[in-house]
Amino acid sequence: MTKTIIYPGTFDPITNGHIDIIERSLLLFDEVIVAVATKSTKNPKFTCDTRISLIKEVFAHNKHVHVKQFSGLLTTFAQQLNVYVLLRGLRAVSDFEYEFQLANMNRKLCPKIETIFLPATNNYTYISASMVKEIADLGGDISDLVPKTVEIALRKTNC
Ligand code: COA
Repeated sequence: MTKTIIYPGTFDPITNGHIDIIERSLLLFDEVIVAVATKSTKNPKFTCDTRISLIKEVFAHNKHVHVKQFSGLLTTFAQQLNVYVLLRGLRAVSDFEYEFQLANMNRKLCPKIETIFLPATNNYTYISASMVKEIADLGGDISDLVPKTVEIALRKTNC
């Protein structure tokens, strides 16, 4: 039986931290569905289509990574796909409280759902999409933080 996991987020944009989590999850699962939230309170810099294309470009070589968008409740989306395992990355203890709440709320909404956490690799514990965008906006070097395709997209938005 194929083991599939859903990795949800805003991905505005995808960073090397997210990529690390996705790649490592494929050591445990056969397929990963990267679920991009179309609606976000975060007022994303990139449209949902662009966020999705960037992820697809990054994983073009990997047929085990699938990218889909969702707009309603994550639990509804998971049920539609018949996939009941969610993946989230933990960068620091400060992430834990929110992630713990999110995992429990998702299980309350759909008792079959479990969340698996992967700790961020050391190099990526300090990355956040907002910081990457701010550094890019201010002309700083983001080459170690995001893949080339994302770096180019960020530079373009600042022209
Ligand atoms: N490496 C690097 N950065 C990471 C990371 C990692 N391993 N893990 C998280 N982050 C960063 C992200 O870049 C992001 O940074 P930002 O806040 O500066 O943009 C931040 O941590 C968390 O964002 P993300 O992982 O995209 O999650 P999110 O909090 O934006 O997404 C959803 C949350 C979309 C999963 C959640 O809101 C959801 O499920 N929404 C659907 C509606 C729903 O079901 N609501 C009920 C929930 S109970």
